[in-house]
Formats: sequence, C-alpha cells, structure tokens
Amino acid sequence: MSLLKEVIVNKSTVINPIWIMRQAGRYLPEFREIRKLNTDFIKLCLNKDLSSEITLQPLKRFNLDAAIIFSDILMLPYGLNQSVTFKKDFGPLLGDLNVNEATNLHEDDFIEKLNPIYEAINIVSKSKFTDKKSTIGFVGAPWTILVYMLNKQSPKQHLKIHFFNDKPLIIKLLTLIEKFLKLHIKKQIENGADVIQIFDSWAGLVDEKDLSFYIYNPTLNLVNFTKSFNVPVICFPRGIKDYKKFCDSVKPDVISIDYNVDPKKICEAINIPVQGGLDPKVLLTDYDNLKKESSKYLDVFKDHPYIFNLGHGILPETKPSMVEDLVKIVKDY
Ligand code: CP3
Repeated sequence: MSLLKEVIVNKSTVINPIWIMRQAGRYLPEFREIRKLNTDFIKLCLNKDLSSEITLQPLKRFNLDAAIIFSDILMLPYGLNQSVTFKKDFGPLLGDLNVNEATNLHEDDFIEKLNPIYEAINIVSKSKFTDKKSTIGFVGAPWTILVYMLNKQSPKQHLKIHFFNDKPLIIKLLTLIEKFLKLHIKKQIENGADVIQIFDSWAGLVDEKDLSFYIYNPTLNLVNFTKSFNVPVICFPRGIKDYKKFCDSVKPDVISIDYNVDPKKICEAINIPVQGGLDPKVLLTDYDNLKKESSKYLDVFKDHPYIFNLGHGILPETKPSMVEDLVKIVKDY
C-alpha cells in the first residue's frame, strides 16, 4: 500500500507522505528543456511518452510519495471540441463552444481524443519510480470547468457574469460536464490511477446561497462515482469559506486546504484526513523559514491523518533545492 493510502484508508498518523501540486512543471530545468521544444502545451499533454516522462521527473529527483499525471483540467473542454490555447503571461484562452455538438458528442470520440492521457497513466503507474507509490489522476470540479468553458479565460482577469443568468444553459452544461468528467475519471482509474483529486480552483467565487447548486451537489456526484470504484478522492475547493460544511455535504476521503485556512481550526473541526496548506511562497524564502513554516503544519497535524502538500501549485520561480529541503524536513519530522 502506498503511504498516501496508509493515511487515507488506514488513517495512519505516524507517517508523513508528501507530494506537491504542480510538481511536474516549470520550476524544473528538465521540464523547461522539454517544454522549449514543445511549444504547444495541449500537444505535449497528448504525447504519452513525453507526458509520462515529465510526470516522473520530480520522482526521479525527490522522495515524493505520489506521481500526478502531467495533464490539465482544461483537457475536458478540449475533449468536447472547444479549443484551448495558452497565451504567455496571460493563461488559458478557450474558443467558442458548440453546445449542441458537444451534447451529441459520442463517448468513444471523447475517449479517442484523450486516449494518450490514459496511456500515459498506464506507463506511469507501471514504472519502477512509482513502485509502492500512488498515481494520482485528476479532474477539474464541474463549477471550475463551467467557469472556464463560459468565461473562456481565467476569471482572475475578468468574470463574464451575464452567462450565469442563463439557467437553462447552465443546467445543460453542468449535465454535459458531469457526464464527461465521470468518463474521464473512469478511464484514468482503469489505467492505473489509484487516487483521484478534484480541483475546484474557483470555488471561492460562488455565493453562499448558490453553493449547493454549483459546488456541493455536482461535486458529491463525482465523489460518489469515484468511490464506487473503491478509489479514494481528494477534494480541493480553493477559497471556500466553510470547509466543514463542504466536507459534510460532499464527503470526500481527504480535504485539501488552501493557504488562507487556519490549520488548527480545520484540525479541530474536521475528522477526515487533511492535505496541504503551506503557502507556495514559503518555498521562495530560505531554509530556516521553510523549516519554521512547514513545522507549523506538521505540529498541528501530529495526531491527525495528514498528507503534506502546498496550499496551491508550486511557483515556477521555486528553486528545486528548496523542494529537496522540504521533502527532507517532512520525512525527518
Ligand atoms: O500538478 C501537476 O504537476 C499535474 C499537472 C497539472 C497542470 N495543471 C499542468 C499545467 C494540474 C493538476 C493542473 C491543474 C489545473 N490547470 C488547475 C487546477 C489547479 C490550480 O492551479 O488551481 C487549473 C485552474 C488549470 C488551468 C491552467 N492550466 C492554467 C490557469 C494554466 C496557466 C498557468 C500559467 O502559469 O500560465 C495552465 C497551464 C499549465 N497546466 C501548466 C502546467 C505545468 C503551465 C504550462 C507551461 O509550461 O506553460
């Protein structure tokens, strides 16, 4: 059993597994090398040899306890024939969505389009570098996918709110998104993903009164679907105000917290295993500060099942040596 599963399934508190959100990425020179020659990010995600190699890069360097497949939550709209590109220093840009065409899309066509991702998961899960480690598959949560599909860019710059008044469209899209997210989860599990993480990066944008409709109900459906394969599911509802209410409503196996959350309060309020929290900016400081800040989480969760991780993705400016230090601090605790 992987250390992640020891924590998730057996509720162990004596080990400290660690993996890092966006662990395969731009802070690694060996990633930048491949990326330089592969300017089309989507094509890179769909190159099973390169995407599996990139996925394993951090595991070759650091004693991490899980591989997370090098892909993106926006592969879902891509699979629904909505174009996705990445503009430098701006982020993702999506094209127009043909709702009727997407509604009539055949599941086999979606699978065929995304098949290299599933093949990459297969390669990664069988690699000697993931022996006794978890292979994490992931999806974006329905709300966050809906935001990107309608807004066609990150809501960080601008959220086109008028779309969200068209309730029939929203219901149609949420149904469509849920159907294909389930398929995407199933294919990842069939190919060797033994844990699923659901990223809800924009959960914090939803009004309290709309949480059931946009967040709790659609996410619960995915959580139940994943659990039906006997695969644990980690939820990361970034920016949500009431993590306890989220856990009671959605019932994930693990709750991943963002860096604005007080770990002490979470530890007291929540019974299920917790993941993450450390501010990625701490990795841009120095060793002593890294030790101090990471020890806060390790101290708080000393007697609580806990998976070490950050409160959001690792920043591209991070020095790989700081990641090495962090892994050592966590493992030596
Ligand atoms: O964690 C990992 O190592 C696995 C790979 C992974 C990526 N994206 C690779 C990636 C995962 C799990 C994601 C999830 C993802 N993608 C989320 C949810 C988590 C979060 O960050 O909130 C979101 C919102 C996206 C959408 C997305 N993809 C954005 C906003 C961007 C642009 C960011 C930027 O820095 O320009 C991406 C691109 C992306 N996805 C990169 C990587 C490594 C950068 C691509 C590059 O090299 O330019």
